[in-house]
Amino acid sequence: MTQINLAQQNVEQKELVQQLFEQQFKRSAELIAHAPGRVNLIGDHTDYNDGFVLPAAINYGTTIAASARKDKVIKVYAHDCEQQTSEFTLNEISFDQDMMWSNYVKGTLQALMKTHPEINGANLVVTGDVPQGAGLSSSASFEIAILKTFAQLYHLELDGISAALIGQQAENNFVGCNCGIMDQLISAMGQQDHAMLLDCRSLSFEDAPIPDNFTLFIVNSNVKRGLVDSAYNLRREQCEQVAKFFGVSALRDVTLEQLSSAKEQIDPVFFKRARHVISENARAIITLKALKNNDIEKISIAMKESHISLRDDFEVTTKEMDGLVEMIDSVLGVEGGVRMTGGGFGGCIVALVPTSMVEQVKDVVNSRYEKEFGLSPSIYLCIATQGAFR
Ligand code: GLA
Repeated sequence: MTQINLAQQNVEQKELVQQLFEQQFKRSAELIAHAPGRVNLIGDHTDYNDGFVLPAAINYGTTIAASARKDKVIKVYAHDCEQQTSEFTLNEISFDQDMMWSNYVKGTLQALMKTHPEINGANLVVTGDVPQGAGLSSSASFEIAILKTFAQLYHLELDGISAALIGQQAENNFVGCNCGIMDQLISAMGQQDHAMLLDCRSLSFEDAPIPDNFTLFIVNSNVKRGLVDSAYNLRREQCEQVAKFFGVSALRDVTLEQLSSAKEQIDPVFFKRARHVISENARAIITLKALKNNDIEKISIAMKESHISLRDDFEVTTKEMDGLVEMIDSVLGVEGGVRMTGGGFGGCIVALVPTSMVEQVKDVVNSRYEKEFGLSPSIYLCIATQGAFR
């Protein structure tokens, strides 16, 4: 599928969720809400350091059919999960060890009720096509879809930035992942055909066009990500330690010069972590400018350097991700860019590929990846779509 038929994809998800709702609840849904997943073009592990990221919302997401209830009960049917139904009341929300997916609903609603205690319950049917645990933010798209659903059901005054912060609170305080704000914010506020440079300190953002005739080419390495949350949280702690050493609130405030001059006093591993974050912030800004100037070569170089930094300094890539990047780079050269994307430790790589080269890139992935790594790749051809609250 080199042509991306977005309209058809949307209609299919809506029809499916509507049908499932009728089967489950014996009536039609009151509304349907959708929130996209995301791919990060550049700027990884910078968001929780108050830095810069450059993601785009994509044409894979979570869709929810819903109707309001008069009581405080939430009934959820999750079509894509093994244990499909969860039921709880808003008056008594507790973590569910056995049904992880339900914690995203619970955590999000618990956080939402801090500012909107007036909400009542709902009947919900959820389906999605963001591959789970692949670094494309299936969980953020779930949280934002829940928030969009409740905003509409109960006519809440909820803007995209507040929604993103609520989604992040759900992850940080309920699910237990100390993630930054990038995933929720782009899912809420992404702009069609654009990536977004987000300043994760001020939460101000600027849209940057994806160059015409380029495709967001994503490959899932299909490496199962193990112990992701603990490894992620550890990286975050290491960054915070270095910020503390410099007496600042976040690595955003440290320059490469300052870091280098303190090299002897900093643990070598911590030093590398900080070097990644500081240099990655600079690359995100360079890429924003390059996107605006349609300077593909600059983008290509920045993406390549970003991958190397995530591989060698931040140490969150895998040999499979490195392999995918190397094989795609061998075809693209400076005509496009390629790097790992998201949290790492498995999951996806992203490439910005001239649409005329998509088949060539597909061929190299299909002919080499499985042979060299014993895993079959999943390829997603994406376009940048609109966020749920934009
Ligand atoms: C995960 C987190 C984000 C961000 C990325 C890495 O996706 O949820 O907040 O930190 O990893 O850039």
